[in-house]
Amino acid sequence: MSLLKIARLGHPVLLLRAAPVADPTAPELRRLVLDMGETMLDARGLGLAAPQVHASLRLFVWREGQDGVAALINPEITLLDPVEEVAFEGCLSIPGLRGAVRRSPRVGFRGLALDGRVMEGEAEGLLARVMQHEIDHLDGVLYPMRMHDLSLLGFIEELAQHAPKPAETDPAA
Ligand code: NI
Repeated sequence: MSLLKIARLGHPVLLLRAAPVADPTAPELRRLVLDMGETMLDARGLGLAAPQVHASLRLFVWREGQDGVAALINPEITLLDPVEEVAFEGCLSIPGLRGAVRRSPRVGFRGLALDGRVMEGEAEGLLARVMQHEIDHLDGVLYPMRMHDLSLLGFIEELAQHAPKPAETDPAA
């Protein structure tokens, strides 16, 4: 396995609508997913979408537990709660910054696992937020583009010192 280079804000790959994965069981896809998992853990992120490692494909990984990695290929997400929660989030493509974003606290998800089987379920709280953040990456959307109040965008150290309630969980995805 190897660490992949993470595209940062300003790289055009982050603004593309990613293409569906044709064969989720292809060996090169398995390698990409394993490398993405390793890259995410190394960067101490909670999630990572393929466009962030210059692969414009519809898949993302997220952290499960301390150092487990889960992956969803060709994901679809349904927002299950119309009431949105505001919380700070970060992005491995926008290092050092956090911003407050409104997200649904509960989502339904559906997609494929690496073995090609359908994976579906519900997620809430932080995982629901991570999944909404990652699926946005597949549509070329970065979290600042979702922000309603850009005065709640800042450097982690400044927010920790001055914001009324910065992210305790410090999610970067
Ligand atoms: Ni991100």
